[in-house]
Amino acid sequence: MLRRSLLLGAGALAACGAGASKPSPQTLAPLKDAASFPLGLAAMTGQFDDGGWTQVARTHFDRITPEWEMKMEAILLEDGGLDFSRSDQLVARARQMGLGVFGHALIWYAQGGPSFEALADRPAEFRRAYRGYIARVMGRYRGQVTGWDVVNEPIRDDGSGLRDCLWSRALGQDGYIIEAFEAAREADPDVPLFLNDYNLESNPAKRRSFLTLAERLLRAGAPLSGLGTQTHIDCDLPDGAIRQTVRELAALGLPVHVSEIDVSTDAGDPARQPRLFAEAVEAMGDLPPAQRFGVTVWGARDRDSWLRRGGEHNPLSPDRPLLFDDDGRPKPAAQAFAAALRA
Ligand code: G3I
Repeated sequence: MLRRSLLLGAGALAACGAGASKPSPQTLAPLKDAASFPLGLAAMTGQFDDGGWTQVARTHFDRITPEWEMKMEAILLEDGGLDFSRSDQLVARARQMGLGVFGHALIWYAQGGPSFEALADRPAEFRRAYRGYIARVMGRYRGQVTGWDVVNEPIRDDGSGLRDCLWSRALGQDGYIIEAFEAAREADPDVPLFLNDYNLESNPAKRRSFLTLAERLLRAGAPLSGLGTQTHIDCDLPDGAIRQTVRELAALGLPVHVSEIDVSTDAGDPARQPRLFAEAVEAMGDLPPAQRFGVTVWGARDRDSWLRRGGEHNPLSPDRPLLFDDDGRPKPAAQAFAAALRA
């Protein structure tokens, strides 16, 4: 958790794209051709100018999730205005490469802005601005995205309940979440609307809180239509934890998205990384087809990982959390991922 908060706090270093690497020989058949569900990867605009990255992205994946360009930090201006230049650019680059886009993330405890803070004690105006933000962002990309993370990371890290945040203080604990999903459904009647969180595999209390929140939302009639488990895990995660988590989320009957998987080699035995990636594929494949929203890897090559930017990072033993190495060559994890897709 320390690493994650350091990385988030450090705000990542400037986007990659510096020093485009040479494309590497692909000795792996396209992953997406073997998959019975969509395969995604995290992307940032600068990466579309890096031949090594585009070769991996276009060969193996169906869609991208923007690492930051569709979040408030990239769109919401200090005065409450909206700047879509970054998100438009990313969506355009993805479309040029024939990649779908998964919208991430509309409402997140980690981001906000002075224009909302200024309304914190005026609930009616806050609500209007809140629903207006969702409506305008979703309206702009209506018909261009395969789904949205409507609310990201609502559960406290210790699993004891919902986080307090700017949104909950203004609109109430379940209230801000229900309002977000209602506003999202008004903005787009068709697109799948996800609730997304992390450490559900490693923290049963957090998983239980996430599931009881989802059940409460459904009982309240919120148009929740998908559940995302980010799956930012370490190599020391016990076998079966991913499968158990996906199975428990799927028990609510909604599509499930393994939405941000990476398997950090900073903790545990790196030799377990292939098995953990394979387990995510097996868990998704075990679901009824209608519930297989897909598996999204949080980066293409190890060098593209957020875990390699900012925060604590050992240059002598860099983290190798993804399927392809720094030069875009498939690692044993990619081979195991492919074998599980074919199984
Ligand atoms: O590269 C730009 C630079 O051009 C710009 O001038 C500068 C202005 O702030 O920002 C730079 O972008 C940074 C971006 O990462 C690319 O490096 C942003 O500052 C920085 O905030 C952003 O961090 C992202 C972080 O979420 C916060 O949005 C990470 O890339 C991204 O991997 C991380 O992803 C999160 C998921 O959304 C939710 N789950 C956890 C996951 C990891 O923390």
